[in-house]
Amino acid sequence: MRKFKVTFYPDNKTVEVEGEKTILSAAISAGIYINAVCGGDGVCGRCKVILKKGKVATQPTRHITAEERKHNVYLACLTEIQDDLEVEIPIESRLNLEGLTQEEVNKRMAKDYSTPEDIQQVEQKVSQGFRYFPLTRKIFLDLPRPTLNDNLSDLERIEREIEREFGITVQHTGLTNIRTLGEILRSSDWKVTVVLGGAGVSPEILFIESGDTSERNFGVVFDIGTTTVTGQLLNLNTRQILGTKATYNKQAAFGSDVITRIIYAKDANGLIELHDAVTEDINEIILRLTDEHKVDLNDITMVVCSGNTTMMHLLLKVDPTHIRREPYVPAFSFTSILRASEVEIRINPRGLLFCVPGIASYLGGDVTAGILSCGIHKQEKLNMLIDIGTNGEIVLGNRDFLVACAASAGPAFEGSGVICGMRASRGAVQKVKISSGDLEPTYQVIGEIKPQGICGSGYIDILAEMLATGIIDRNGRIRQIEHHRIRNGEYGREFVVASNTDTATGSDVVVTDTDIDNLKRAKAAIYAACTILLKHMQLDFSVIEHIFIGGGFGTYLDIENAIRIGLIPDIDRNKFIFVGNSSLSGAREIILSEEAKRQADEIARRVTCLELSVEPGYMEEYMAALFFPHTDLTLFPNVKI
Ligand code: FES
Repeated sequence: MRKFKVTFYPDNKTVEVEGEKTILSAAISAGIYINAVCGGDGVCGRCKVILKKGKVATQPTRHITAEERKHNVYLACLTEIQDDLEVEIPIESRLNLEGLTQEEVNKRMAKDYSTPEDIQQVEQKVSQGFRYFPLTRKIFLDLPRPTLNDNLSDLERIEREIEREFGITVQHTGLTNIRTLGEILRSSDWKVTVVLGGAGVSPEILFIESGDTSERNFGVVFDIGTTTVTGQLLNLNTRQILGTKATYNKQAAFGSDVITRIIYAKDANGLIELHDAVTEDINEIILRLTDEHKVDLNDITMVVCSGNTTMMHLLLKVDPTHIRREPYVPAFSFTSILRASEVEIRINPRGLLFCVPGIASYLGGDVTAGILSCGIHKQEKLNMLIDIGTNGEIVLGNRDFLVACAASAGPAFEGSGVICGMRASRGAVQKVKISSGDLEPTYQVIGEIKPQGICGSGYIDILAEMLATGIIDRNGRIRQIEHHRIRNGEYGREFVVASNTDTATGSDVVVTDTDIDNLKRAKAAIYAACTILLKHMQLDFSVIEHIFIGGGFGTYLDIENAIRIGLIPDIDRNKFIFVGNSSLSGAREIILSEEAKRQADEIARRVTCLELSVEPGYMEEYMAALFFPHTDLTLFPNVKI
């Protein structure tokens, strides 16, 4: 197939791609993130680019006006490359991970509490105090030299010393190590560092190094989300978190949700492309972290990955087809500890990879890790975990039982399916207040720049404020009020949060009737799922000790507003605990503790999954929640309507 060069401006980056690829796909290859909220379906209209030079083939779309067409504006996802191109990406089409401070990136995209103080705060609340025993360990040995009376072989000599000094029985080691052992031992005067890996009391010798390198043992944990990949570098000796980096999942070029990616994986090279996209993200993050913290890649001995079931299949290059076919059985839930190099993760070539075990097709290792890090499985009292990401996952339980379900909430709170929605990145309206007097909004924007769109926490505030000020009714309809910010638009009535003169894009940032409808469905799905889990166990919200809130909102979710719209229950506010990216913190517990790994395995086996679509009563609960805050106001006694 012919190859073409595409140069993107203002970045001035050029990539070579095969013809028939889209401009969106080329941009992703160039490491430029275009705002592709719908994942390239041509639905959101966010991925507009300006063609400066070259020939393309495009599909008709209502998102490009006649005026824009005249000025060579195209949707990047619907436009195929047929020539060498020069393409400009306007500000409103960009996703701005860059430009945020590291702290902002960590908190918003990494969905984690990553400053030392924040970590300490969260960990004090939820730390499970697992016994420290990392999955890979470095041991320095000063071996007794062989003599005629002590003539054990080199390998047995090492094994004997490990047993004698540390009480560890080594299981085995690779042939490569045996081949080089004699030379290493003698050239280093019998002073070597042995790297042990694997769980249990019988680990394997991963590799042997000359001298004492035991000070340098590092690991990386990952949360592989459908939208974002987040990695964290740890010193496995000191347990210190050295840094966190996040990037958009490059698989987004092949579809925004797991279903489209599963379908894509069936294409000729689909599975390989999806696998390569995510390993590229992982390797990039590892490189950025090791560069920044001056860590040698050879000293990274362990990687732990957590993510939904589809992400884990794609990472391991396993066909995910049956995840979406009845009876929805994944190819695997548990894997043994693997070699990271087997899946092209670039750390020490003999370094290891562990994937947090999943529960079912739609409840992955990220949920297992979440339960582990919140400690729900160990508590006597009843706790709930609500993780709001591209989907909503809910867990209810204690040390006696664990039930969980995936609510098909859709990604509205992540900015998809809403006209001005965007992810929580630079330029997103994240907090909103509307004055009850003149109905004028004030807002806070991530990065403190002019707004480009609205992220999940912003939408929750807007809905709550519109309800409180009477702009919308309980059904979510925008009322017929004479006001310069309320008008009829293409998608029904709309409220102008920021007018075009105040935005970075030059277009109004609005909330429409259709947006409100989509957000209402998302919140109803999550609330109904929580209710059904409780009803299934013949319980109600009053018995819950804590509700852990995980996911992208972080501390930016205004609890009062989330209750006002009926996303979460109207219970004592002190019962809510933000846990940030619980998938990442669970992976962190595991890499640092064999005990945590064992418990993760147990959790994944113990959780009972509820399939909501066949659960009696789910539909009624969902319909009842399609009001703000709910049809039954007695469930929200503290919300003033
Ligand atoms: Fe192109 Fe949504 S329209 S990514």
